[in-house]
Amino acid sequence: MDNAPIGVFDSGVGGLSVLGEIRRALPNESLLYVADSGHVPYGEKSPEEIRERSRRITAFLLDQGAKALVVACNTATAAAVADLREHYAIPIIGMEPAVKPAARATRSGVVGVLATTGTLRSARFAALLDRFAGTVKVVTQPCPGLVEYIEQGELESPRVHALLQDYTRPLLEAGCDTLILGCTHYPFLRRALESILPAKVALIDTGAAVARQLQARLIDLSLEAAGPARVSRFWSSGDPQALGRVLPVLWGESGEVELLPF
Ligand code: DGL
Repeated sequence: MDNAPIGVFDSGVGGLSVLGEIRRALPNESLLYVADSGHVPYGEKSPEEIRERSRRITAFLLDQGAKALVVACNTATAAAVADLREHYAIPIIGMEPAVKPAARATRSGVVGVLATTGTLRSARFAALLDRFAGTVKVVTQPCPGLVEYIEQGELESPRVHALLQDYTRPLLEAGCDTLILGCTHYPFLRRALESILPAKVALIDTGAAVARQLQARLIDLSLEAAGPARVSRFWSSGDPQALGRVLPVLWGESGEVELLPF
């Protein structure tokens, strides 16, 4: 048993979709969350920049006592998780677009992936397709611009709908019936997506699977928290008040947000 907290980070608010799943699966755990909103979006940054930010944030979370780390960002996982595992000894859980379950679920044989430019361009994503796509056709769509709206808590405005329509049109035209939300920001657009997509299109995201994987690792290593005294702390490298404003919507509770000092 270990009551130390779990460290979680993302380029911004997207990882809160994963944090919510962690809270559901592991209600006894204390959670530390870093939103690197001063450097969002990661999707258009170089892998080197993302590695540098990821290392600094991980070192910070370790300083705060984290016993395990969740990289709640597909883009940062693609660019930095191998590097983090080389440098830090705690258990590190990353995440990647759910190609394997989507390839199993599709009936039309065409799967769509919405993700960032960085994720789709990465060697990790290419390897994922090689391993799990099989005979399924995977059509990818980078979505620049979406993350910025989600950071503001703008989830259902006409301009968000218009962007989603533009980004999903080619996937629908290709015959996709299963759509992977390959960026942790996008689960917050589930309602908007459901309102514009035909009902037969299933949406798949990875937050719950990541929480289960974390749980399994903690049990394996006897690191689960014993007590029910759960604490959550939030930091932002952008405007802490801006994160504070969207927390009630994206996290379901208000919370105090501290400024990340770098
Ligand atoms: N939330 C991130 C992901 O899962 C990246 C968003 C961004 O900063 O571009 O890929």
